[in-house]
Amino acid sequence: MRFTLNGKPVEIDDGLSDTPLLYILRNDFQLNGPKYGCGVGECGACTIHLDGLAARSCSIPAGNVAGKSIVTLEGLAEGSKLHPVQQGFIDEQAAQCGYCANGMIMTLVALFNRLPNASAQQIKSELAFNLCRCGTHLEILRAAEKARAIVAGGPP
Ligand code: FES
Repeated sequence: MRFTLNGKPVEIDDGLSDTPLLYILRNDFQLNGPKYGCGVGECGACTIHLDGLAARSCSIPAGNVAGKSIVTLEGLAEGSKLHPVQQGFIDEQAAQCGYCANGMIMTLVALFNRLPNASAQQIKSELAFNLCRCGTHLEILRAAEKARAIVAGGPP
């Protein structure tokens, strides 16, 4: 079975088609950006982009992504230049344990790809189902606002 992973064509054994995509990404491709949190699609730690939309890789059988495009956290940067959302998280120190960061970042990038001028309320609504247990929400929202300004072409 073939699909595109971070811009490159890849192939996995057809016998893995029922395996959650998250396991394939982490175990077979050593892409450890997506995290295992709840395993049932509730926390958002495992978020990836599936054909440009945020999706929860713990709940997607690998067979469902045949012929599709998957992007993980590792695929966001252009060379050494981080995506503005990634840079925003660093600048605003928007992580404590960091476990939720992958899901927050991937969700925000997908949002800004759709809506570069997303409002503060749209940002909050989009992140509402990504869980953070450390209470880093204010820093995450500041990182999102900073990234939005860059993505939308305004001053940071
Ligand atoms: Fe996938 Fe929680 S690990 S949503």
